[in-house]
Amino acid sequence: MGKNIKLHPTIFIVFGGTGDLNARKLAPALYNLFIEGHMPHDFAMIGTGRTKLTNETFRGKMQNGVNSYSRNVPANKEVWEAFSRNIFYQSSDANDAESYKEFDIRIKNLNAKWKTEAQVIFYLAVAPEFFPIIAKNIEAAGLSDPKSTRIVIEKPFGHNLKSSIELNELLAKIYQEKQIYRIDHYLGKAAVQNILTFRFANSILEPLWNSEHIEHVQISVTEQLGVQDRGDYYDNSGALRDMIQNHVLQLLCLIAMEPPVTSNSDSIRDSKVNVLRSIRKFSRTEVHTSSVRGQYSGGLVENVPVPGYLHESKVNPHSNTETFAAIKFLIDNDRWRGVPFYLRSGKRMQQSSSLITIHFKESAYATFPNGLKNHIHQNKLVISIQPEMSIRLQMQAKRPQVDMDITPVDMVFDFKETFKNQAPEAYETLLLDTMKGDQTLFMRADQVEAAWEVVMPILDSWQNDQDFKLFEYPANSVNAQVGEDLITKDGFSWFDLPLQNKKASA
Ligand SMILES: NC(=O)c1ccc[n+]([C@@H]2O[C@H](COP(=O)([O-])OP(=O)(O)OC[C@H]3O[C@@H](n4cnc5c(N)ncnc54)[C@H](OP(=O)(O)O)[C@@H]3O)[C@@H](O)[C@H]2O)c1
Repeated sequence: MGKNIKLHPTIFIVFGGTGDLNARKLAPALYNLFIEGHMPHDFAMIGTGRTKLTNETFRGKMQNGVNSYSRNVPANKEVWEAFSRNIFYQSSDANDAESYKEFDIRIKNLNAKWKTEAQVIFYLAVAPEFFPIIAKNIEAAGLSDPKSTRIVIEKPFGHNLKSSIELNELLAKIYQEKQIYRIDHYLGKAAVQNILTFRFANSILEPLWNSEHIEHVQISVTEQLGVQDRGDYYDNSGALRDMIQNHVLQLLCLIAMEPPVTSNSDSIRDSKVNVLRSIRKFSRTEVHTSSVRGQYSGGLVENVPVPGYLHESKVNPHSNTETFAAIKFLIDNDRWRGVPFYLRSGKRMQQSSSLITIHFKESAYATFPNGLKNHIHQNKLVISIQPEMSIRLQMQAKRPQVDMDITPVDMVFDFKETFKNQAPEAYETLLLDTMKGDQTLFMRADQVEAAWEVVMPILDSWQNDQDFKLFEYPANSVNAQVGEDLITKDGFSWFDLPLQNKKASA
């Protein structure tokens, strides 16, 4: 992030100000932007929710959030005071259109004080059922001016293609697309942002980045945790909706997209949409041959018993919601013809990690004696997003001994080793981009709908085909073994970094 950008005075109005997302992510992100000199000179954050709080109590809650979750802790007293002077609270029910007049008064007062017209960013950190009413009430209060206002929404962007189209249509009636910032926080992670730089700023890669040299690609986002206290939300969602439709497909787009025509946000998003539209849509039979779904049962995590999914709180005890999904996609364009992309995501797995692995085709080995062939592994490029932030190129090397023996070795680029400064949290990048008006990392309406179009045949089949298997895997299952049938039948296996590489946290 570049420092000292002269940003326009900004007012954040955070719906869900009393909620978890604000305490955990938004307040720490604003605080870090402030202490690192990225906030505009004039800014305010107005938190809102039904809970009755004074400004002081709200500031205290925000400070707790910063102290608990910020990468810069504990909050320095003087700096905190300078920051928290800009934080306010307004108690109101989001359904109450009248209460929005109070926002108008506050905005006018701040504008008079700052002698300008500030940009106003409405951040909807609330459950998605509130998006329509808040969007409408903002408009009714005369606060949706395209010149000075933006609206930020969190996923899920709809529950399926139909509801995502309805949400987009509703938003489009009130706001121009340039005002709408749909957050997929994965896109704000430093290691994810680096993928495009890595691909397009290194000319040695492009000649290899195609079906002639790449055998297959794996994109894997796994978690050690179960559903925690989000059972009610998750049971209505599942791994396909919660992870694959958004984060994992967006990672696929970054790996598979063509170089954008220009570096502007729409060019980049156009390239991503083109990938999504090129993914082969499944027939019902193909859903059976190209996808698997599973659900965790009880087990031991670090020697502590954990419940199976059906015994988690707020989960239907007869639920058939999947906590693991793996899908093999094919992309029908010249670059990727015939290259399978295996995507998977699951909860309660042995390792939490987000990994992209590019498996290159094997070489002809003409130089080496026949007996050595079995020792030669294919080259792999491993992009680790978390917990380790690294890029590893797995090469073959001769062991330093008199006999000829070949072994795989890693050439490693480690973000934390190389760039000694800490990477910003995803929300810092995303909030700064919202203030700057840069939509590159945010989901455009057509991107969201194209991603739903990809997963809808799978969702439909999983919901309607009684014979579609939901396999069971014990909590803490070895990552490589969960859903392995999908990939082993093609002669491959799930790749993971060894456990010792997982200690650092991103
Ligand atoms: N938590 C995370 O880390 C995270 C990460 C990514 C996305 N998200 C998404 O962000 C959204 C919020 O998540 P959360 O975890 O922060 O939820 P949460 O902790 O349950 O907070 C919900 C917020 O909504 C407010 N609210 C509920 N009814 C309201 C009403 N009628 N009028 C005004 N405010 C109302 C609550 O305030 P009052 O009770 O004071 O009214 C509270 O501040 C969800 O869509 C979630 O999927 C969350």
